[in-house]
Amino acid sequence: MSKLIRFGVSLEEDLLNKFDRHIKRKKYTNRSEAIRDMIRSELIKEEWTENKEVTGAITIVYDHHTRDLVNKVLDVQHDHHNCILSTQHIHLDHHNCFEIIVTKGKSKEIEELYLKLKSLKSVKHAGFLMATKGKDLT
Ligand code: NI
Repeated sequence: MSKLIRFGVSLEEDLLNKFDRHIKRKKYTNRSEAIRDMIRSELIKEEWTENKEVTGAITIVYDHHTRDLVNKVLDVQHDHHNCILSTQHIHLDHHNCFEIIVTKGKSKEIEELYLKLKSLKSVKHAGFLMATKGKDLT
């Protein structure tokens, strides 16, 4: 754990009031932890824009009865097997499947995998979560 540093921040009262209401809604008990999380979030975005090694999760929902769709979903995943850590497949009902694809690798490749899955015809939902390996964050 690195040394804790205190620093002062000047900002307009209105903005501070908005911030305090915001962090209360987000269940933070103090400003410091809220600010830490905002900084981490910005640093994670930077890891993604700079094509660093990151982690992420992709979710998709599709009807497995749709012709050839399962094969296409599998083909895309096999094309990017080197950045897929695991895939969880949940049968939601008789038709619909929910998949969670956990990824680790260069951000550009993970984004490419996501965009390829999202753009497959008849995929009903595609979601994306940018995460981090956590190594460079405290
Ligand atoms: Ni299924």
